[in-house]
Amino acid sequence: MPRVLVLNGPNLNRLGTREPDIYGHDTFDDLVRECVAAGEGLGLDVEVRQTNDESELVGWLHEAEDAGAAVVLNPAAFTHYSYALRDACAMLTAPLVEVHLSNPAAREEFRHTSVISAVASGTIAGFGLDSYRLGLRAVAALLGD
Ligand code: DQA
Repeated sequence: MPRVLVLNGPNLNRLGTREPDIYGHDTFDDLVRECVAAGEGLGLDVEVRQTNDESELVGWLHEAEDAGAAVVLNPAAFTHYSYALRDACAMLTAPLVEVHLSNPAAREEFRHTSVISAVASGTIAGFGLDSYRLGLRAVAALLGD
């Protein structure tokens, strides 16, 4: 079964209580369950991780590349300014789908820039947990091509 790492950046461990008007009431544990279940339906071996640490996230991207694993990435605030993360994403040879729970394009101006999008296979934003389900579907489709 193809392996997919679903990687999450800072503050996403606080889902459920973090600005629920923007991010909803589902917790990070709910996100993990939903991604694993979606992966089972798609024939993907899904592992979900979260960190508040940029260097740990970069290390996980290196690990994904070494393992040939596809990545679904919610870089959270790193989306908007982390060139280290972008450079790590640019090295990936398997599919990389950028996802966001909210729609950053409809929010504050600093969120309108993603330094990741240009090196991702594609981006899905604004659909809550469905962004992840759709991201996993996109990975399955790309792997099937
Ligand atoms: C986010 C959007 C980012 O702007 C923000 O910093 C996050 C979450 C999202 O999933 O909507 O932490 O990536």
